[in-house]
Amino acid sequence: MKKSISTFLKQPIKDNTNRSANPSVTRASTILFNSMQELHQHEKRIKANKKISYYSYGRYGSSTTIELENILKELEQAYHVFLTGTGFGGVSLAIMSICRPGDEILVSDNVYGPTREISEDLIKEFDIQAYFYDPDDFNDLKNKITKKTKLIIVENPGSNTFEFQDLSKIVKLAKRKKILTFLDNTWGTPLYLKPLKLGFDMSFTSATKYFSGHSDAMGGSLAVNKKLFKKVMFFYKLSGYRMSADEAYLIIRGLRTLDVRLKKHYENTKIVINFLKKQKKIKEILYPYKPGSKNYKLWKKYYSGANGLFSIVIKSKNKSSVVKFVNSLELFGIGYSWGGFESLVLLQNLKGETKYTRIRKYFRFKKDEHIVRLHIGLEDPKDLIEDLRKALTYIK
Ligand SMILES: Cc1ncc(COP(=O)(O)O)c(C=O)c1O
Repeated sequence: MKKSISTFLKQPIKDNTNRSANPSVTRASTILFNSMQELHQHEKRIKANKKISYYSYGRYGSSTTIELENILKELEQAYHVFLTGTGFGGVSLAIMSICRPGDEILVSDNVYGPTREISEDLIKEFDIQAYFYDPDDFNDLKNKITKKTKLIIVENPGSNTFEFQDLSKIVKLAKRKKILTFLDNTWGTPLYLKPLKLGFDMSFTSATKYFSGHSDAMGGSLAVNKKLFKKVMFFYKLSGYRMSADEAYLIIRGLRTLDVRLKKHYENTKIVINFLKKQKKIKEILYPYKPGSKNYKLWKKYYSGANGLFSIVIKSKNKSSVVKFVNSLELFGIGYSWGGFESLVLLQNLKGETKYTRIRKYFRFKKDEHIVRLHIGLEDPKDLIEDLRKALTYIK
Protein backbone atom coordinates (compact mmCIF):
# COMPACT_ATOMS: atom_id res chain seq x y z
CA MET A 1 0.00 0.00 0.00
CA LYS A 2 1.34 3.42 -0.89
CA LYS A 3 1.35 5.52 2.27
CA SER A 4 1.33 9.28 2.66
CA ILE A 5 4.31 10.87 4.40
CA SER A 6 2.13 11.68 7.44
CA THR A 7 1.32 7.99 7.82
CA PHE A 8 4.92 6.98 7.15
CA LEU A 9 6.20 9.25 9.94
CA LYS A 10 3.89 7.54 12.44
CA GLN A 11 4.96 4.06 11.40
CA PRO A 12 8.58 3.71 10.65
CA ILE A 13 9.93 1.53 13.44
CA LYS A 14 8.88 -0.85 16.12
CA ASP A 15 11.22 -2.76 18.39
CA ASN A 16 10.25 -6.35 17.67
CA THR A 17 12.45 -7.77 20.44
CA ASN A 18 10.96 -5.65 23.15
CA ARG A 19 7.52 -5.26 21.54
CA SER A 20 7.65 -1.49 22.11
CA ALA A 21 6.20 1.01 19.65
CA ASN A 22 9.55 2.79 19.49
CA PRO A 23 13.09 1.69 18.72
CA SER A 24 15.47 0.92 21.54
CA VAL A 25 18.30 3.28 22.34
CA THR A 26 21.37 1.23 21.54
CA ARG A 27 24.49 2.70 23.03
CA ALA A 28 27.46 0.77 21.75
CA SER A 29 31.12 1.05 20.98
CA THR A 30 31.94 -2.63 20.46
CA ILE A 31 29.60 -4.62 18.24
CA LEU A 32 30.06 -8.38 18.55
CA PHE A 33 30.30 -10.84 15.67
CA ASN A 34 30.25 -14.64 15.65
CA SER A 35 33.38 -14.96 13.54
CA MET A 36 36.01 -12.93 11.68
CA GLN A 37 34.31 -13.97 8.43
CA GLU A 38 31.02 -12.52 9.59
CA LEU A 39 32.72 -9.27 10.62
CA HIS A 40 34.45 -8.90 7.23
CA GLN A 41 31.27 -9.76 5.32
CA HIS A 42 29.40 -7.14 7.29
CA GLU A 43 32.02 -4.48 6.58
CA LYS A 44 31.65 -5.22 2.88
CA ARG A 45 27.87 -4.72 3.13
CA ILE A 46 28.37 -1.33 4.80
CA LYS A 47 30.86 -0.24 2.14
CA ALA A 48 28.40 -1.16 -0.60
CA ASN A 49 25.58 0.78 1.13
CA LYS A 50 23.49 -2.40 1.52
CA LYS A 51 20.61 -2.57 4.01
CA ILE A 52 21.97 -3.14 7.53
CA SER A 53 20.57 -3.05 11.06
CA TYR A 54 23.89 -2.53 12.90
CA TYR A 55 27.33 -1.17 12.06
CA SER A 56 30.68 -2.87 12.57
CA TYR A 57 31.81 -0.37 15.19
CA GLY A 58 30.03 2.22 17.33
CA ARG A 59 31.91 5.12 15.78
CA TYR A 60 29.74 4.80 12.68
CA GLY A 61 26.47 4.60 14.60
CA SER A 62 24.18 2.02 16.13
CA SER A 63 20.83 0.39 15.36
CA THR A 64 19.13 3.58 16.61
CA THR A 65 21.00 5.88 14.24
CA ILE A 66 20.34 3.43 11.39
CA GLU A 67 16.60 3.73 12.08
CA LEU A 68 16.91 7.51 11.80
CA GLU A 69 18.99 7.22 8.62
CA ASN A 70 16.27 5.02 7.11
CA ILE A 71 13.48 7.50 7.87
CA LEU A 72 15.51 10.37 6.46
CA LYS A 73 16.52 8.40 3.38
CA GLU A 74 12.84 7.94 2.61
CA LEU A 75 11.99 11.57 3.36
CA GLU A 76 14.87 12.89 1.26
CA GLN A 77 14.64 10.20 -1.45
CA ALA A 78 18.37 9.85 -0.89
CA TYR A 79 20.95 7.19 -1.65
CA HIS A 80 22.42 7.68 1.80
CA VAL A 81 22.10 10.02 4.78
CA PHE A 82 25.10 10.90 6.94
CA LEU A 83 24.26 11.88 10.51
CA THR A 84 26.38 14.32 12.47
CA GLY A 85 26.43 15.40 16.10
CA THR A 86 25.37 18.97 15.32
CA GLY A 87 23.73 20.55 12.31
CA PHE A 88 26.84 22.49 11.50
CA GLY A 89 28.80 19.24 11.37
CA GLY A 90 26.75 18.41 8.25
CA VAL A 91 27.76 21.68 6.57
CA SER A 92 31.45 21.19 7.30
CA LEU A 93 31.24 17.50 6.31
CA ALA A 94 29.92 18.51 2.89
CA ILE A 95 32.59 21.14 2.26
CA MET A 96 35.51 19.14 3.59
CA SER A 97 34.48 15.97 1.75
CA ILE A 98 34.30 17.68 -1.61
CA CYS A 99 36.79 20.55 -1.76
CA ARG A 100 40.52 20.19 -2.29
CA PRO A 101 43.41 22.69 -2.64
CA GLY A 102 43.06 24.88 -5.70
CA ASP A 103 39.26 24.60 -5.80
CA GLU A 104 36.84 27.50 -5.67
CA ILE A 105 33.37 27.47 -4.18
CA LEU A 106 30.42 29.79 -4.72
CA VAL A 107 28.33 30.58 -1.67
CA SER A 108 25.07 32.51 -1.49
CA ASP A 109 25.70 35.77 0.36
CA ASN A 110 22.81 35.22 2.79
CA VAL A 111 24.05 31.99 4.41
CA TYR A 112 24.03 31.19 8.11
CA GLY A 113 26.97 32.97 9.87
CA PRO A 114 29.21 29.94 10.55
CA THR A 115 28.70 28.71 6.95
CA ARG A 116 30.10 32.05 5.88
CA GLU A 117 32.93 31.76 8.38
CA ILE A 118 34.08 28.29 7.27
CA SER A 119 33.88 29.35 3.62
CA GLU A 120 35.57 32.70 4.11
CA ASP A 121 38.26 31.83 6.62
CA LEU A 122 38.85 28.20 7.42
CA ILE A 123 39.04 26.66 3.96
CA LYS A 124 41.33 29.46 2.80
CA GLU A 125 43.96 27.82 4.98
CA PHE A 126 43.63 24.75 2.75
CA ASP A 127 44.01 26.88 -0.40
CA ILE A 128 40.30 26.73 -1.22
CA GLN A 129 38.79 30.07 -2.20
CA ALA A 130 35.17 31.07 -1.59
CA TYR A 131 33.29 33.70 -3.59
CA PHE A 132 29.91 35.02 -2.51
CA TYR A 133 27.07 35.68 -4.92
CA ASP A 134 23.97 37.83 -4.68
CA PRO A 135 21.02 35.52 -3.85
CA ASP A 136 18.70 37.94 -5.68
CA ASP A 137 20.67 37.88 -8.92
CA PHE A 138 21.13 34.63 -10.84
CA ASN A 139 23.47 36.34 -13.33
CA ASP A 140 25.83 37.23 -10.52
CA LEU A 141 26.16 33.53 -9.71
CA LYS A 142 26.57 32.69 -13.37
CA ASN A 143 29.29 35.28 -13.89
CA LYS A 144 31.32 34.08 -10.92
CA ILE A 145 31.72 30.53 -12.17
CA THR A 146 35.25 29.67 -13.30
CA LYS A 147 36.97 26.48 -14.40
CA LYS A 148 37.98 25.98 -10.77
CA THR A 149 34.47 26.15 -9.30
CA LYS A 150 33.85 22.85 -7.55
CA LEU A 151 30.79 23.45 -5.42
CA ILE A 152 27.83 25.84 -5.13
CA ILE A 153 26.45 26.30 -1.63
CA VAL A 154 22.88 27.55 -1.48
CA GLU A 155 20.80 28.29 1.59
CA ASN A 156 17.16 28.69 0.70
CA PRO A 157 15.71 30.89 1.98
CA GLY A 158 18.63 32.67 3.68
CA SER A 159 17.97 32.14 7.37
CA ASN A 160 18.12 35.85 8.35
CA THR A 161 16.92 37.83 5.36
CA PHE A 162 14.83 35.10 3.67
CA GLU A 163 15.57 35.60 -0.04
CA PHE A 164 14.26 32.73 -2.17
CA GLN A 165 16.24 31.61 -5.22
CA ASP A 166 15.24 29.92 -8.45
CA LEU A 167 16.61 26.53 -7.51
CA SER A 168 16.11 24.63 -10.78
CA LYS A 169 18.02 27.30 -12.66
CA ILE A 170 20.98 26.87 -10.32
CA VAL A 171 20.92 23.08 -10.66
CA LYS A 172 20.66 23.24 -14.44
CA LEU A 173 23.59 25.62 -14.72
CA ALA A 174 25.69 23.59 -12.29
CA LYS A 175 25.05 20.34 -14.14
CA ARG A 176 26.00 21.95 -17.43
CA LYS A 177 29.27 23.20 -15.89
CA LYS A 178 29.87 19.94 -13.96
CA ILE A 179 29.77 21.70 -10.59
CA LEU A 180 28.45 19.98 -7.47
CA THR A 181 25.58 21.53 -5.53
CA PHE A 182 24.61 21.70 -1.85
CA LEU A 183 21.36 23.05 -0.44
CA ASP A 184 20.82 24.00 3.21
CA ASN A 185 17.15 23.03 3.42
CA THR A 186 16.70 23.50 7.16
CA TRP A 187 13.87 26.02 6.64
CA GLY A 188 11.80 23.92 4.23
CA THR A 189 12.73 20.48 5.59
CA PRO A 190 12.47 17.53 3.19
CA LEU A 191 8.77 17.45 4.00
CA TYR A 192 8.21 20.60 1.95
CA LEU A 193 11.11 20.47 -0.50
CA LYS A 194 13.19 17.53 -1.70
CA PRO A 195 16.48 18.98 -2.95
CA LEU A 196 17.87 15.70 -4.32
CA LYS A 197 14.76 15.23 -6.45
CA LEU A 198 15.32 18.72 -7.82
CA GLY A 199 18.83 17.67 -8.82
CA PHE A 200 21.01 18.93 -5.96
CA ASP A 201 23.86 16.54 -5.08
CA MET A 202 23.59 17.17 -1.35
CA SER A 203 20.64 18.10 0.83
CA PHE A 204 21.38 19.32 4.32
CA THR A 205 19.05 19.84 7.28
CA SER A 206 19.96 20.85 10.81
CA ALA A 207 18.04 18.21 12.77
CA THR A 208 18.36 20.47 15.80
CA LYS A 209 15.51 22.58 14.41
CA TYR A 210 12.13 21.19 13.26
CA PHE A 211 13.19 17.53 13.08
CA SER A 212 13.81 17.37 16.82
CA GLY A 213 11.31 20.15 17.50
CA HIS A 214 11.75 20.32 21.26
CA SER A 215 14.94 22.37 21.77
CA ASP A 216 16.63 19.51 23.56
CA ALA A 217 18.65 17.68 20.92
CA MET A 218 21.25 18.54 18.30
CA GLY A 219 22.12 16.86 15.06
CA GLY A 220 22.67 17.19 11.34
CA SER A 221 21.54 15.24 8.32
CA LEU A 222 23.49 15.30 5.06
CA ALA A 223 21.60 13.39 2.36
CA VAL A 224 23.54 12.55 -0.78
CA ASN A 225 23.01 10.97 -4.17
CA LYS A 226 24.84 7.86 -5.37
CA LYS A 227 27.52 9.87 -7.13
CA LEU A 228 28.80 11.38 -3.87
CA PHE A 229 28.30 8.46 -1.50
CA LYS A 230 31.88 7.12 -1.56
CA LYS A 231 33.54 10.49 -1.41
CA VAL A 232 31.53 11.69 1.58
CA MET A 233 31.79 8.31 3.33
CA PHE A 234 35.61 8.49 3.03
CA PHE A 235 35.76 11.79 4.89
CA TYR A 236 32.93 10.90 7.30
CA LYS A 237 34.70 7.79 8.56
CA LEU A 238 38.11 9.39 8.86
CA SER A 239 36.95 12.55 10.57
CA GLY A 240 35.02 10.76 13.30
CA TYR A 241 31.64 12.40 12.67
CA ARG A 242 28.78 10.60 14.38
CA MET A 243 25.41 11.13 16.06
CA SER A 244 24.76 9.56 19.46
CA ALA A 245 22.00 6.99 19.90
CA ASP A 246 20.29 9.25 22.47
CA GLU A 247 20.12 12.23 20.09
CA ALA A 248 18.98 9.94 17.26
CA TYR A 249 16.17 8.64 19.47
CA LEU A 250 15.01 12.16 20.32
CA ILE A 251 15.10 13.17 16.67
CA ILE A 252 13.08 10.08 15.67
CA ARG A 253 10.55 11.02 18.33
CA GLY A 254 10.40 14.58 16.99
CA LEU A 255 9.94 13.38 13.41
CA ARG A 256 6.76 11.51 14.37
CA THR A 257 4.99 14.86 14.70
CA LEU A 258 6.97 16.93 12.17
CA ASP A 259 4.00 17.24 9.81
CA VAL A 260 1.54 18.24 12.56
CA ARG A 261 3.90 20.72 14.18
CA LEU A 262 4.91 22.40 10.94
CA LYS A 263 1.27 22.93 10.01
CA LYS A 264 0.59 24.55 13.36
CA HIS A 265 3.72 26.74 13.19
CA TYR A 266 2.52 27.93 9.79
CA GLU A 267 -1.06 28.55 10.94
CA ASN A 268 0.14 30.55 13.95
CA THR A 269 2.61 32.47 11.80
CA LYS A 270 -0.06 33.52 9.34
CA ILE A 271 -2.19 34.86 12.21
CA VAL A 272 0.74 36.77 13.71
CA ILE A 273 1.79 38.16 10.32
CA ASN A 274 -1.75 39.39 9.75
CA PHE A 275 -1.31 41.49 12.85
CA LEU A 276 2.28 42.58 12.10
CA LYS A 277 1.53 43.77 8.57
CA LYS A 278 -0.83 46.41 9.96
CA GLN A 279 1.79 47.85 12.32
CA LYS A 280 3.24 51.13 11.13
CA LYS A 281 6.49 50.59 13.01
CA ILE A 282 7.24 47.53 10.92
CA LYS A 283 8.63 48.41 7.53
CA GLU A 284 8.79 44.97 6.01
CA ILE A 285 8.11 41.34 6.85
CA LEU A 286 10.64 38.93 5.36
CA TYR A 287 8.35 35.95 4.76
CA PRO A 288 6.65 34.68 1.62
CA TYR A 289 3.17 35.95 2.44
CA LYS A 290 2.48 38.51 -0.31
CA PRO A 291 1.08 36.88 -3.45
CA GLY A 292 2.69 38.47 -6.46
CA SER A 293 6.01 39.20 -4.75
CA LYS A 294 9.18 37.56 -6.10
CA ASN A 295 9.82 35.58 -2.93
CA TYR A 296 6.21 34.37 -2.76
CA LYS A 297 6.32 33.15 -6.36
CA LEU A 298 9.61 31.31 -5.82
CA TRP A 299 8.35 29.81 -2.57
CA LYS A 300 5.17 28.57 -4.27
CA LYS A 301 7.16 27.20 -7.18
CA TYR A 302 9.25 24.87 -5.01
CA TYR A 303 7.73 24.39 -1.54
CA SER A 304 4.58 22.64 -0.40
CA GLY A 305 4.49 24.48 2.93
CA ALA A 306 6.07 27.07 5.20
CA ASN A 307 6.91 27.37 8.88
CA GLY A 308 7.37 29.77 11.77
CA LEU A 309 10.68 31.48 11.03
CA PHE A 310 10.88 34.96 9.54
CA SER A 311 12.27 38.43 10.17
CA ILE A 312 10.72 41.84 10.51
CA VAL A 313 12.43 45.06 9.49
CA ILE A 314 12.03 47.94 11.91
CA LYS A 315 13.04 51.40 10.78
CA SER A 316 14.27 53.49 13.66
CA LYS A 317 17.12 55.90 14.34
CA ASN A 318 16.91 54.81 17.95
CA LYS A 319 18.48 51.37 18.07
CA SER A 320 18.20 51.08 21.82
CA SER A 321 14.41 51.34 21.51
CA VAL A 322 14.49 48.33 19.18
CA VAL A 323 16.60 46.49 21.75
CA LYS A 324 13.98 47.44 24.34
CA PHE A 325 11.25 46.01 22.09
CA VAL A 326 13.14 42.70 21.93
CA ASN A 327 13.97 42.61 25.64
CA SER A 328 10.44 43.40 26.72
CA LEU A 329 8.80 40.48 24.92
CA GLU A 330 7.60 38.08 27.58
CA LEU A 331 6.63 35.08 25.48
CA PHE A 332 9.56 35.13 23.06
CA GLY A 333 12.81 33.73 24.44
CA ILE A 334 16.02 35.48 23.46
CA GLY A 335 18.41 32.86 22.14
CA TYR A 336 19.96 31.07 19.18
CA SER A 337 18.35 28.35 17.12
CA TRP A 338 14.71 27.81 16.11
CA GLY A 339 12.33 25.05 15.16
CA GLY A 340 11.39 24.10 18.71
CA PHE A 341 7.94 24.33 20.28
CA GLU A 342 8.56 27.81 21.63
CA SER A 343 8.62 31.33 20.27
CA LEU A 344 12.00 33.04 20.01
CA VAL A 345 13.39 36.42 19.08
CA LEU A 346 16.82 37.76 18.08
CA LEU A 347 18.01 41.16 16.97
CA GLN A 348 20.27 40.25 14.07
CA ASN A 349 23.78 41.59 13.73
CA LEU A 350 23.79 42.02 10.01
CA LYS A 351 25.06 45.51 9.47
CA GLY A 352 28.76 45.14 9.85
CA GLU A 353 28.69 44.89 13.60
CA THR A 354 30.65 41.65 13.52
CA LYS A 355 33.50 40.58 11.30
CA TYR A 356 31.34 38.32 9.17
CA THR A 357 28.51 40.73 8.65
CA ARG A 358 30.90 43.47 7.57
CA ILE A 359 31.84 41.46 4.54
CA ARG A 360 28.31 40.59 3.51
CA LYS A 361 28.20 42.26 0.12
CA TYR A 362 24.62 42.17 -1.03
CA PHE A 363 22.72 43.76 1.77
CA ARG A 364 19.86 46.06 0.79
CA PHE A 365 18.96 47.31 4.27
CA LYS A 366 20.02 50.72 5.54
CA LYS A 367 21.77 51.60 8.78
CA ASP A 368 18.52 52.55 10.52
CA GLU A 369 16.67 49.41 9.41
CA HIS A 370 16.93 46.76 12.10
CA ILE A 371 16.28 43.11 11.38
CA VAL A 372 14.57 41.20 14.16
CA ARG A 373 14.17 37.47 13.61
CA LEU A 374 11.12 35.82 15.13
CA HIS A 375 10.28 32.18 15.50
CA ILE A 376 6.57 31.63 16.03
CA GLY A 377 6.06 28.66 18.30
CA LEU A 378 3.08 26.52 19.18
CA GLU A 379 1.60 28.86 21.80
CA ASP A 380 -1.80 30.47 21.36
CA PRO A 381 -1.18 33.13 18.67
CA LYS A 382 -3.58 35.53 20.45
CA ASP A 383 -1.17 35.66 23.38
CA LEU A 384 1.81 36.16 21.09
CA ILE A 385 0.04 39.05 19.37
CA GLU A 386 -0.75 40.72 22.70
CA ASP A 387 2.87 40.36 23.72
CA LEU A 388 4.07 41.88 20.43
CA ARG A 389 1.50 44.67 20.63
CA LYS A 390 2.78 45.72 24.06
CA ALA A 391 6.45 45.46 23.13
CA LEU A 392 6.02 47.46 19.91
CA THR A 393 5.09 50.51 21.96
CA TYR A 394 8.74 50.80 23.05
CA ILE A 395 9.99 51.46 19.53
CA LYS A 396 10.78 55.09 18.88
C1 LIG B 1 20.17 27.59 8.33
C2 LIG B 1 21.01 26.89 9.35
N1 LIG B 1 21.91 25.99 8.93
C3 LIG B 1 22.69 25.34 9.81
C4 LIG B 1 22.60 25.57 11.17
C5 LIG B 1 23.51 24.82 12.10
O1 LIG B 1 22.81 23.91 12.86
P1 LIG B 1 23.19 23.52 14.38
O2 LIG B 1 22.86 24.68 15.23
O3 LIG B 1 22.38 22.32 14.63
O4 LIG B 1 24.66 23.22 14.39
C6 LIG B 1 21.70 26.52 11.64
C7 LIG B 1 21.60 26.82 13.07
O5 LIG B 1 21.03 27.79 13.51
C8 LIG B 1 20.89 27.19 10.70
O6 LIG B 1 19.99 28.13 11.09
